[in-house]
Amino acid sequence: MTITVVGAGYVGLVTAAVFSDLGNKVFCLDFDAKRIENLKRGKLPFFEPQLDDYLSKNFSQKRLFFTTSYSESVPKSQIILVCVGTPPKENGEANLTYLFNAVEETAKHLSGYTLIAIKSTIPIGFEDEIESAAKKFAKTRFEFASCPEFLREGTAIEDTLHPDRIVIGTSSKKAQKVLLELHAPLGGERIICDTRSAQLIKYASNALLATKISFANAIANICEKTGADVEKVLSGVGADKRLGRSFLYPGVGYGGSCLPKDVLAFAAVGDHFNYNFDLLKTVHRINESQIDFFLNKIKSAFKNKSLVSKKIGILGLSFKPNTDDIREAPAIKIIKRLIQEGAEVTAFDPKANENAKQEIPEVIIAKDEYETAKQKDCLLLLTEWPQFIQMDYEKVKTIMASPILFDGRNALHKEKLESMGFKYIGVGR
Ligand code: UGA
Repeated sequence: MTITVVGAGYVGLVTAAVFSDLGNKVFCLDFDAKRIENLKRGKLPFFEPQLDDYLSKNFSQKRLFFTTSYSESVPKSQIILVCVGTPPKENGEANLTYLFNAVEETAKHLSGYTLIAIKSTIPIGFEDEIESAAKKFAKTRFEFASCPEFLREGTAIEDTLHPDRIVIGTSSKKAQKVLLELHAPLGGERIICDTRSAQLIKYASNALLATKISFANAIANICEKTGADVEKVLSGVGADKRLGRSFLYPGVGYGGSCLPKDVLAFAAVGDHFNYNFDLLKTVHRINESQIDFFLNKIKSAFKNKSLVSKKIGILGLSFKPNTDDIREAPAIKIIKRLIQEGAEVTAFDPKANENAKQEIPEVIIAKDEYETAKQKDCLLLLTEWPQFIQMDYEKVKTIMASPILFDGRNALHKEKLESMGFKYIGVGR
């Protein structure tokens, strides 16, 4: 098949890489000419494991093409996969400017029956408006489908190659057939439904993941107040197969470009349809308060709770390991607050140093994890990269000014560190 993927962001690039690798001819289109030129030269806009190899292989084998031109790509394509961003507006609603623009430009260049499948996350109720916008420009027959994406950053290629489910949201039999054929080489359950249900599957999935995390954080807070150990408690809870342990890991809260944005956007969808989604608003509130909760712990470790001139080392800047993405990263929020309180902050991340330095010029970037610890009054683990968990903590102890460790991910071995003489402070343990 010939496909145009509109949007060369996370979802778009991974989708283009995987579908070209499966043997399709894929145009990957973005309006950002610089990004497209860089991609042609093999320069990626972000770090994602395996993506580089998949893109360069399929580009050199001429199955994958990078372009800014709708006229070059759309008329030749049977399917358009719209993967543009829907970032949050001030009020939490999704900003659909890029989406409308992508769909209108696509519609202008359609030639013959084409399926436009939206992979971007869009609020329920907008599909009709988007379709009408396209109809204004289309001179030929097209159909719409919602085909939401469930990949995670850091494991995006694997997630796309081995999905749990493929959701096909359209009532058109023809469109269903085209999308089933496109996804035929991939596994996972097929969920065929109407457009709105497909969009709701996406929102409800991210909302439940966020709910599990905030629930784990709420339990952690209760554990601290009662003297219980949250890791034991949640292992006990997660042993029940009906509940499971995944996404029940407490810490400094969820970040990234998806969960925070989708929780707010889904709550806004509720408001729009006269349903007060109080549960999700609370999920968001708990997530925000995890930052205050963690900062209070740090302040409590010092005399008069003052961080003025304290030297603090930070391990990890990205919102989770295996990515350089710092969007809504708890580490970034915490560093900004520490700097406001007068602390001198040194940080290190295997991939996100440059992004963090741009966002917070005051932060000192260390050359590695050991330099981050050197002569510090305390050390904070904020992203659980394996190299931080496997550090030589005997050495860390000797180079720190004072051996205080704050584990914002409960990823370190509490008892072992305490027996080495560290003051260990985790979340809910
Ligand atoms: C999330 C979803 O997991 C994907 O299924 C979805 O496709 C994607 O959003 C999206 O909508 O595009 P992602 O943002 O890449 O994926 O990251 P997650 O792995 O979900 O992690 C989100 C945040 O939650 C991270 O900051 C992580 O550290 C945190 N987290 C995760 C916890 O604090 N505790 C946990 O138990 C799990």
